[in-house]
Amino acid sequence: MVRIGVVGSISTDFVVEASRRPEQGETVFGDSFETSFGGKGANQAVATARLGADVSMIGAVGDDEFAEHLVTNLQNENINTDAVQNVSGVPSGSAIITLVERDNSIIYVAGANDEVKPEDISKELVKSFDIVLVQNETPVETIEQLIDMCNEVDTPIILNPAPAREMSEAYIAKVDYLTPNESEVKVLFPEETMENILQKYPNKMIVTLGAEGAVFFDGKSHQWIPAVDVPDVVDTTGAGDTFNGALAFGLASGLALEESVQFANLAGSLSITKKGAQAGMPTLEIMREHKEFNT
Ligand code: RIB
Ligand code: NA
Repeated sequence: MVRIGVVGSISTDFVVEASRRPEQGETVFGDSFETSFGGKGANQAVATARLGADVSMIGAVGDDEFAEHLVTNLQNENINTDAVQNVSGVPSGSAIITLVERDNSIIYVAGANDEVKPEDISKELVKSFDIVLVQNETPVETIEQLIDMCNEVDTPIILNPAPAREMSEAYIAKVDYLTPNESEVKVLFPEETMENILQKYPNKMIVTLGAEGAVFFDGKSHQWIPAVDVPDVVDTTGAGDTFNGALAFGLASGLALEESVQFANLAGSLSITKKGAQAGMPTLEIMREHKEFNT
């Protein structure tokens, strides 16, 4: 069984569906409201656990009424939560999501997710994983220390730079895989063309392209791996997280990068057929039902 460590956010998603977004100062009628489990860290942990990995979550919840549910949800997915702290005096992480025509926009409020500090992560723990996954909903000092530790103990690390924020070249050099989407690429490298950036970081930079799939440069040519067509797109929230979780699972299982990206594309595509970030994440069994599953 592959061991995967996920450092990241654990949040409640407050999801509102409407036919259009309100203008500044305007009120519109919405069509539905529900809460679901989210947070990019937790989502990626659930994606890998559904596929059958042995997953540990490193993160924090607050002392509000959401905290216990957030942790129980992870445990129900067979995720080890020994390294999830309860922080008092702060709310748990949350995301306000508006869904308009199956596409989302999100306001993320970190709350307890900002309390995951560098000292909460030990070298022993990092060393026990086959691969580590982290995103940008965690403080930058914590992420940088995690990257340094992974380098020290030789554990590969994937940084999914979402939401977008600037990042130093030094740390880009230290991560094994970086998985921005197109808009995150523009924040990371405002001056560069996509083509140059892919070539600058062969077999490291994997750019996700939504319905178009994903692309990376293999040292010789650009490898564009198309997404898998699904008939019934319901909610794209969490598709990127599913991609990243499945990518980590594929790489930790010993698949080559190209196969891992194919595998991740299929998982991401299947995830958008259900509402909510985590609901549509496939198990390995569901993956096997699809002809694109060729590993
Ligand atoms: O990637 C999707 C996630 O990001 C949502 O579940 C929400 O929590 C947001 O922050
Ligand atoms: Na979904």
